[in-house]
Amino acid sequence: VHDLAFAIERESSTRPLFLQIARSVVDDICRGRLKPGDRLPGTRTLARTLGVNRVTVLTAYDELAAEGWITVRAASGARVADDLPEPDPRHSRGAATRRVAPAAAAYDLSATPIVDYTPDSTEKGLLVFGASAPDARLLPIEPLARAYRRVLRRSGGRALSYGQASGHPRLRAALAAMLSNTRALACAPEQVFVTRGSQMALSLVARALVRPGDVIAVEDVGYRHAWESFRQAGATLAPIMVDRDGVDVAVFERLIASRRVRAIYVTPHHQFPSLVTLSAERRVRLLELARLHRIAVIEDDYDHEFHYDGRPVLPLASLDRAGVVIYVGTMSKVLAPGLRIGYVVGPADLLRAIEAHRRFLDIQGDHAVEAAVAELLEEGEVQRHVRRVRRHYQRRRDLLAELLRASAGDALSFTVPAGGIALWIEAIGVDVDAWAARALKAGVFFQTARAFTFDRQPRPFARLGFASLNESELRVAVGRACTVLPATTR
Ligand SMILES: Cc1ncc(COP(=O)(O)O)c(C=O)c1O
Repeated sequence: VHDLAFAIERESSTRPLFLQIARSVVDDICRGRLKPGDRLPGTRTLARTLGVNRVTVLTAYDELAAEGWITVRAASGARVADDLPEPDPRHSRGAATRRVAPAAAAYDLSATPIVDYTPDSTEKGLLVFGASAPDARLLPIEPLARAYRRVLRRSGGRALSYGQASGHPRLRAALAAMLSNTRALACAPEQVFVTRGSQMALSLVARALVRPGDVIAVEDVGYRHAWESFRQAGATLAPIMVDRDGVDVAVFERLIASRRVRAIYVTPHHQFPSLVTLSAERRVRLLELARLHRIAVIEDDYDHEFHYDGRPVLPLASLDRAGVVIYVGTMSKVLAPGLRIGYVVGPADLLRAIEAHRRFLDIQGDHAVEAAVAELLEEGEVQRHVRRVRRHYQRRRDLLAELLRASAGDALSFTVPAGGIALWIEAIGVDVDAWAARALKAGVFFQTARAFTFDRQPRPFARLGFASLNESELRVAVGRACTVLPATTR
């Protein structure tokens, strides 16, 4: 039985009490608070609640039943009718449209950031070259489910109570071990702060670091979601061009000669979105400049595991003797983005600042999931999974390259990257945005350079993330994309 709370004006002379009650019920039905089939309070109860005579309530229910809003049965009492009448605008209090969420707010929302279109991945038949999504179908579902169940059972539910904002201690320890073993990052568990994905890590770092008007240098082309986090924290951004050796450190050097720069945000391993690796000289120079000018280097190592050819490249953080690098990582590509597990590695005072900011945003992460992922790391399950998907992704990379060469000929050119889960392809003389629009109609989605350029202007590039498409899907996707590839204007 719904708890009906009406405002009835006892002194109102213009409307009898029974009609006020009836109109309040109609309003509640129209606003969706009462739904077809919902039971209304008994007449005695409602009379007592409202402090009116029971006859008044009976008369109100009679009126509602006569208008078709409710049905009254001796056995089961009054219920909202299944088949509702049209509301009579004369009686409405302005909420006459039935159960429709209002489209526009009655206040100013113009400060909302712009979000690029991304397709709904559940859209039937659409094949998506994701920006960097892994293939969820390859997840070790059973081990993950078992670990989660074990965590809940063993903790007796305590895994779901309030805990440390910096993350579940087991996960901090497991991540520290993983980073030491596979990325030569000498770090203790206390240096690892667990966040909900690296997006939150970047936002928290920005809040801890930026004072209004501070400059943060960013890669152009680059990762817009990170830029937006810095902007929201009050930073002014300075774009630095990216070439085949990664972000141009000489341009960065000129920038810091003329402006006070607080930080630089980089993706040195597989640059996002162009996939180039930052050259060894530039790494050394960048760290040296950062040390001399006391600039933080925010290193976003989002897909470290996916390197196929040649020697593994270690993070900048592993070279950092001066303590300038703030290292950000994620389990989103290694396992799954929906787990929302990322992390920041940094000095104690940075982590304390981050913790303070997190408290007001999110209190803490999901410790049950964090402990379950810690188990998977401890058991070596994540490492086995990485070895398995790496083989898949390498095959997908090679197949995509082969399919593009066969179907697009010289219209498209690209270098097969040594790692990463996407190809960055150049389509000189092609209007790539028009191409992408036609491709979407043909059932395949991919992002063009416009999503990654600082000035939002087009450039003749597109990013094809291949990890989430299996081999037969890749064939279909390339087929669709290439049949609508316009002739070049060269
Ligand atoms: C370069 C880069 N950084 C960070 C992220 C954020 O990922 P998450 O918040 O899921 O860790 C992504 C996701 O696509 C990315 O591509």
